[in-house]
Amino acid sequence: MFETLQKAPVDKIFALLGEYRADKRTHKLDLGIGVYKDATGNTPVMRAVTKAEKRIFDNQTTKSYVGVSGNRGFCDSVTDLVFGDTVDADRITSVQAPGGTGSLWVIMQLLHRAKPDATVWISDPSWPNHYPMLELAGLNPKYYPYFDAKTRSVKFEEMLATLDKMGPNDIVLLHACCHNPTGANLTPAQWDQVADSMKRTGAFPFLDLAYLGFGDGLEADAYGVRKMAQSCPEIMVGFSASKNFGLYRERAGVAIGVAADKEAAGIVFSQMANIIRASFSQSPDHGAEIVNVIMNDPELRTEWEAELTEMREKMLTLRTNLAGSLRKASNSDEYDFVEEHRGMFSLLGLPADAVTKLKTEKGIYLIDDSRVNIAGVPEHDTDKLATAILDVLE
Ligand code: LMR
Repeated sequence: MFETLQKAPVDKIFALLGEYRADKRTHKLDLGIGVYKDATGNTPVMRAVTKAEKRIFDNQTTKSYVGVSGNRGFCDSVTDLVFGDTVDADRITSVQAPGGTGSLWVIMQLLHRAKPDATVWISDPSWPNHYPMLELAGLNPKYYPYFDAKTRSVKFEEMLATLDKMGPNDIVLLHACCHNPTGANLTPAQWDQVADSMKRTGAFPFLDLAYLGFGDGLEADAYGVRKMAQSCPEIMVGFSASKNFGLYRERAGVAIGVAADKEAAGIVFSQMANIIRASFSQSPDHGAEIVNVIMNDPELRTEWEAELTEMREKMLTLRTNLAGSLRKASNSDEYDFVEEHRGMFSLLGLPADAVTKLKTEKGIYLIDDSRVNIAGVPEHDTDKLATAILDVLE
């Protein structure tokens, strides 16, 4: 059996995490995988999460099955958070999935059932797992222009020109906010134009919403997804609670469908439930129940929102500090984009050999495309980091 197989490629984000963990140097710094960190470099359990977990521990009376579509309180709270009252509730349907990646997977399976020959367009560049996931799902991935490596911003005209040429056999995967890996995002006015274009061409919007609240706030970050659902008759959204609830290992996500009407939404729900049952039966409940408890208790919800604001504001401060230190070290405004970007990441635009030198010579770990996890930047040591970056560029 196994003689027919060859070693499969490893995912570069998790491979780098393995290298970092094996590194014995005490001064090492992990700016790779996208996890939030406090000043000590630890990824903390959010206070609201600990309280919700305690409540679950004290009150849970059974570990019996929840059901194929998962924790309904969780799914409904999430769809409410994402759309508020901006979209007719009858059009919305959702199922729980194992993490944001699980939600994308369920959606990809559904898209494959609906249109097996469709092309799925992803941004150039995109999260490195999008392409292999689409291939594994039997879909046909292609890149649309997105990031201008010179200006470190979105090449919007080129992106829009590509979208304008699409049709009903095209699916467009959009990062709803906090673009991963670049940190460069669409403005509300650009979202409006993307929505107009896709409404006109009939291309299908598929949104990856993994960082809601990490950019400019819960409402501002939901602008794109709401706009697409209001403009286009049908969209799909993959939601992750990994980052904004800090539930990375619990795998809590929601696959959301917005359909033309209630009847179509019911069909989408039945298809997603059918895919889940045949794939892994149902999702793990613990992380979902934590979110359910938090979102349905006014005090815990307020506490969670405050913590999320703290995290977002800290990342914004780190952006300002790092941009300032890079301005000083390079004696130029070349890196000012770090302050303008939003979300967890920025693509620094360093050559591959500089990224390797940072790792081997300085113990500083970035993804090979020079994506930096802003949350991992040491708050009071940005000068040292900036000097190290400029050093390896010499
Ligand atoms: C990342 O991009 O680093 C995170 O989304 C973690 C992951 O699953 O890749």
